[in-house]
Amino acid sequence: MADIILGIESSCDDTSAAVIKDGWLLSNVIASQEVHKSFGGVVPELASRAHEMNIVPVVSEALSRAGITGSDLTAIAFTRGPGLLGSLLVGTSFAKTMALSLDIPLVMVNHLQGHILAGFVKQEGSPNKAPSFPYLCLLVSGGNSQIVRVDSPLEFTILGQTIDDAVGEAFDKCSKMMGLGYPGGPIIDALAKKGDPKRFTFAKPHVEGLDYSFSGVKTSLLYFVRDQIAKDPEFMEKNKEDICASFQKCLIDILMDKLIKAAKLTGIKEITIGGGVSANSGLRQRIVQEGEKRKWNVYLPEFKFTTDNAAMIAIAGYYHYLAGERCPLDVAPVSRIADF
Ligand code: KG4
Repeated sequence: MADIILGIESSCDDTSAAVIKDGWLLSNVIASQEVHKSFGGVVPELASRAHEMNIVPVVSEALSRAGITGSDLTAIAFTRGPGLLGSLLVGTSFAKTMALSLDIPLVMVNHLQGHILAGFVKQEGSPNKAPSFPYLCLLVSGGNSQIVRVDSPLEFTILGQTIDDAVGEAFDKCSKMMGLGYPGGPIIDALAKKGDPKRFTFAKPHVEGLDYSFSGVKTSLLYFVRDQIAKDPEFMEKNKEDICASFQKCLIDILMDKLIKAAKLTGIKEITIGGGVSANSGLRQRIVQEGEKRKWNVYLPEFKFTTDNAAMIAIAGYYHYLAGERCPLDVAPVSRIADF
């Protein structure tokens, strides 16, 4: 009999539900929350409220697009963390209630594992984009910057991670500081395409091993912009494309230096990326170029699987389900998960 898993994701500001049948995607519905735009960042309380409003219609739509009803489901997988606690509570409580009422198993998923396994979602008419084991995943989002070694769908080792800000945070905070808007990543990405990445340079961190740091480069940009604006109040407006291109190049250089080091140290040539920042066009281009030079097999996730979505939670949940893992009904969400 087929295993049909409903995935539920509510860790930040996207409410999403997806259905997967034996690893094949039947539906993936995402309701993004526009309410945060005017605040320049996610407002946790508004996010929880929007999840509460969205969760029922989103799950109904996912079941309907998959052509099934709740009684066809084998199990429900949900994001337990990391993320915003109020947002996670909505998805967790909903998943528990639905599993209890349908009398089917509940499986909890680490949101980051979802990002790392997104490439394993099989889709009708789409070539398989999954790397072979072991592979390295550069996991880059608004909350994380890590290099993870993946030995199986259930075995993850963090080889390096940020010691301060995440790279997505650097994009978002710097965009806000430059008055460009939120979320900063896509805005800087779009402006960078029209700018000169070699025009300006920013301080790069010196961090041991495979760890990252992004707070210094953020400060470097802040002082640079402040000093230039003191000389010419129009400086930002006149140069924003070159500033974005140079700043983005600096972040990509930092990310790639450690990824190249990790590939050399482990001898692993299967490489993938995940998380919201993996949508960045400069990063995608660069990883493909490095891959050609270094004979890596590079797997780029489809854009729809780079940001938060429930398809990745359903596929990760599917593997946990197959491994016999079940989640008790007294489980609580967690905002931070130190390790996998
Ligand atoms: O994975 P995600 O949707 O949410 C979590 O952080 O869990 O990632 C959101 C992050 C934000 O920081 C956003 O600015 C960044 O991903 N992002 C991008 C791009 N698209 C989204 N960063 C750089 N370039 C992009 N094209």
